[in-house]
Amino acid sequence: MLQLQSKLPSQGVTIFSVMTELAHRLNALNLSQGFPDFPAPPALLEALSQATLSGYNQYPSGDGVLTLRQQLATQFLTRDQLQLDPVTEITITPGATIAIFCAIQACIHAGDEVIIFDPSYDSYAPAVQLAGGTSVHIHLDAPSFQVNWQKVKDSINANTRMIIVNTPHNPTGAIWSEQDWRQLIELIQDKNIVVLSDEVYEHLIFDGQKHHSALQFPELRERSFVIGSFGKTYHVTGWKTGYCVASPQLMRLFRQIYQFANFCGTTPCQIALANYMQQHPEHIQELPSFYQAKRDLFNAQIQNSRFDFIPSQGTYFQNLDYSAIRPDLNDIEMCQFLAEQHKIVAIPISVFYRQAPESLRLIRFCFAKTDQTLQRAGEILVQC
Ligand SMILES: Cc1ncc(COP(=O)(O)O)c(C=O)c1O
Repeated sequence: MLQLQSKLPSQGVTIFSVMTELAHRLNALNLSQGFPDFPAPPALLEALSQATLSGYNQYPSGDGVLTLRQQLATQFLTRDQLQLDPVTEITITPGATIAIFCAIQACIHAGDEVIIFDPSYDSYAPAVQLAGGTSVHIHLDAPSFQVNWQKVKDSINANTRMIIVNTPHNPTGAIWSEQDWRQLIELIQDKNIVVLSDEVYEHLIFDGQKHHSALQFPELRERSFVIGSFGKTYHVTGWKTGYCVASPQLMRLFRQIYQFANFCGTTPCQIALANYMQQHPEHIQELPSFYQAKRDLFNAQIQNSRFDFIPSQGTYFQNLDYSAIRPDLNDIEMCQFLAEQHKIVAIPISVFYRQAPESLRLIRFCFAKTDQTLQRAGEILVQC
């Protein structure tokens, strides 16, 4: 007689699986899940096959292949003039999600509170719950989805142990300004609060704006975990390779958990990424204009539609407001309507909230797609 209780009883199947299944079943254009439908750079694929043929097929160091950690340190040095020790301050992980999970398990104990800004990436709150903590959800202010700092101040108390930041932000494309970081520093600098900064879209930032990493602020260096994803940056989400950067003290806590969560990542992917990064430093410089052109192509077509939008500032997502089309439908119903009637699949924004505002009429489209896919999407959406 098994009598097991779910540890996450309110969690169903994620909306990403639901929508991807819907796209397959209806043979619809899939702009829901966040991944490219174009190939990775040929030189990177070549580097992967070279790595496997050269025998890099056994476990790597638990902290990650050292050359990849060194490449990452070089990237941070070039971009932010930031000196990182690849041995004590960088761990390569099988994707960003496990790094987020381990950072939360490393710091959160029963009774601790974690501030999460909604809409938020769906893995944060369950990870807090599994650690025994409580997530405190603060709504970002629509339509620009900026942080309301008074609400943050009012939410901080003696139990607050972590604040989760995500910039550039999935699903809204909003980014944190330097001023946002300064506000955060002011609120937490004399408190026992760590920052988990999810920066997986760090290189996807548009209109000449600059990404501000938590690591750039000396006041945050000792209290921040910064999480990144090679999958997003190098068009290989299926390689599930990411990283965590933290001070040696925080990294020790992180590795205590990570060694039992996964122990290590995938050797040939790490070798291939290290070689590609060394040989193609221009890749990350070209990314903003590469994705900005895709955003602009998508948005230029929507200009002539009944959807309303604020251009995304970062990530590869564009949100569209459909109030002028079907205000009677909530966003889940709208996504179903679009899939069934127009054969195009998006993601409802309400699923990124613990409790979404009733008035929300926003859906998310991923523009990490070929120009052909984006043109087809535009043709469909102007008909709606
Ligand atoms: C905000 C955010 N964080 C983390 C991840 C997970 O990245 P990875 O695929 O490297 O686990 C994603 C992926 O969609 C994301 O959007």
